[in-house]
Amino acid sequence: MSDHQADALVIFGITGDLARKMTFRSLYRLEQRGLLEVPVIGVAVDEMSDEQLRERARDSIKQTGEQLDEEVFDRFAARLRYVRGDFGDEQTYSGLTDALGEQKHPTYYLEIPPSLFATVVAGLAKAGLLSDGQRVVVEKPFGHDLESARQLAADLHRHLDESQLYRIDHFLGKMGLEEILYLRFANTMLEPVWNRNYLACVQITMAENFGVEDRGHFYDPVGALRDVVVNHLLQLLATAAMEPPSGRDPETLRDAKRAVFRAMPDADPAHYIRGQYDGYRDTEGVAKDSTTETFAAVRFEIDNWRWAGVPFFVRTGKHLAVRQTELRVLFKRPPRLHFLPEGHRRPEPNQIVFKVDPSTGIRMILDAQRADKTGANEIEFDMEFAQEGGEGATPYEVLLHAALCGDATHFTRQDNVEESWRIVQPLLDSPPALHPYAQGSWGPEAAKKLVAGYGGWHGPWLPSDEE
Ligand code: BG6
Repeated sequence: MSDHQADALVIFGITGDLARKMTFRSLYRLEQRGLLEVPVIGVAVDEMSDEQLRERARDSIKQTGEQLDEEVFDRFAARLRYVRGDFGDEQTYSGLTDALGEQKHPTYYLEIPPSLFATVVAGLAKAGLLSDGQRVVVEKPFGHDLESARQLAADLHRHLDESQLYRIDHFLGKMGLEEILYLRFANTMLEPVWNRNYLACVQITMAENFGVEDRGHFYDPVGALRDVVVNHLLQLLATAAMEPPSGRDPETLRDAKRAVFRAMPDADPAHYIRGQYDGYRDTEGVAKDSTTETFAAVRFEIDNWRWAGVPFFVRTGKHLAVRQTELRVLFKRPPRLHFLPEGHRRPEPNQIVFKVDPSTGIRMILDAQRADKTGANEIEFDMEFAQEGGEGATPYEVLLHAALCGDATHFTRQDNVEESWRIVQPLLDSPPALHPYAQGSWGPEAAKKLVAGYGGWHGPWLPSDEE
């Protein structure tokens, strides 16, 4: 029974960075919305009292810029308890059992390095804390290649059924991805043209205008391909490419994504551009001769009836010109319009843009002729969802709430994790040359060649004040 409502949330690694930046704030917001109803027990190795944990929670939430409502915070703080212990020590788990008391169906959230997952899961299992379908939520990375992803799953499956495992890919908690799926299938004008008969290519951009900052130690052995392409951006791609799921249960949704991944051939290193921003090697924790990519652009293919021949171009980078994540579909170019005067410009291809970050929206680009018949040009229809009813909950609110409720739809399944690694594995095995690029640019020049036959990289759709 792994879809029950949890009666407690146990967070391993509550003194870590993720808790400070994301978790406390997300739980506080759930409290504010009346969606947090269970005790929250933090486990970590640091010496700390319950009261100190509460103070830490308060500081962390404030540091995120959240306006603290004292009444809400008091309710949230009253839920917090702390268990100190080494993850390899049996006593930690007996301490946890005591702290749980009557609560027999906690959800465990492992905000710890993957190298410790197996230790914690084994400790929980030995203490009898996993014997009734209790869920375990884990954070990426799920391996660093196909083989290690399989090994990690094998280690976890020793004590856990796949249905108990909730793997966080926080993009699956983003409102923008839900919106893409909804818009695609809720609009009859979109679905019939959403295929190789009408589309020339799909372009996915995840641009960040900041660098690796204080995450050098984590990032340098990882790089852009592993950090965001194999997980977040392939999830975004699958959302754009999947067939309509015929049910809302998690397996049906995951099966629909799996069908996309299965149809994707292994990526070709000849269609992979790697870049590194100038100054990256001076970052603390980064090797002086590092060849890690901070920019990646890849051409993916989906070899099925809907998509064969339509390339999916994906690019991402740190220290690019702007912060923007979007999905852009480019239609085929219309023929010349012979009813117009000689030399009249040929219409541009239509585009539809789905903005995912930093806010969500949709833009349609059509070609129109102005009244004076000389100004034929592209025109844009924009809709910013924030201006029409606001943005939804943040990804971690969505995911933590779903994990507590036993709703697995927002979490990724092991076969999809493995398919994603299988697709990018040749890029890991034969990485092409590294191109330096200037901070604040759009990455290496070489990335343009990848999309040369498709009119270059389009967009991104910038916030209106930057256009
Ligand atoms: C994380 C990556 O998973 O996603 C980061 O490790 C990246 O490097 C981040 O910056 C981006 O997430 P978001 O939601 O801010 O776009």
